[in-house]
Amino acid sequence: MRKPVIAGNWKMYKTISEAVHFIEMIKPVAAQAGHCEVVVAPPFTALAAAAEAADGSKVAISAQDMHWDKEGAHTGDISAAMLVDAGCTHVIIGHSERRHDHGETDEQVNRKIKAALEAGLTPIMCVGEVLAERESGLTGKVLTAQFEGGLAGLTAPDFSRIIIAYEPVWAIGTGRTATPEMAAEAHHLLRGLARERFGENEASAVRILYGGSVKPDNVGGLMAQEEIDGALVGGASLKVDSFTALVNYR
Ligand code: PGA
Repeated sequence: MRKPVIAGNWKMYKTISEAVHFIEMIKPVAAQAGHCEVVVAPPFTALAAAAEAADGSKVAISAQDMHWDKEGAHTGDISAAMLVDAGCTHVIIGHSERRHDHGETDEQVNRKIKAALEAGLTPIMCVGEVLAERESGLTGKVLTAQFEGGLAGLTAPDFSRIIIAYEPVWAIGTGRTATPEMAAEAHHLLRGLARERFGENEASAVRILYGGSVKPDNVGGLMAQEEIDGALVGGASLKVDSFTALVNYR
């Protein structure tokens, strides 16, 4: 009932021509993959060209961040309308690298989510604890604060348009994946929060992706968990072969 999503987060990798080449290679893979949705998130500079290459295919294009204002004096920032104009349908919001490199807060995440929804984009909201928080037993508390803060003021219909990504910070780019059981436990907690806030229908429909060192050799175990509805993948999404293997996880 929940259609899985395999999303590649390219971070600060790939020029325009590299992005277009990748999209061309992955289009037939996505066309064959009726079992899941395929999303790629190129850097800002390659979004328009990637969207043009993906036009009419089953590859959806996501941005990696955005500003909450419609326009204004924000040097270096990009608005939701600009992302739509470039051909994006999705936007990653609150990635841990934004939270840690740029001090992004739950309140800012919340403003971005609202602006993305207003512009018709699908937000992929990232949450996740750092290692010290996990080791001190604070994972539940941290995820609850990020969930509540990031989604403050949203209605159930708003929530039904959101994708959540659980990305334990200690597993991102480290080669240390959460075990499928650990991930499923966090997803279960997040789904419970969704149930309390938005009701049973929304909670059972929301897609919760796992992210953090997902690779072709561990994606099967993760996706076998009922609670895990897809993956947000960094490193292993950069090569056509490994991204193909991720999309074809079954
Ligand atoms: P990784 O990154 O797959 O390289 O760990 C995941 C992410 O940051 O979304």
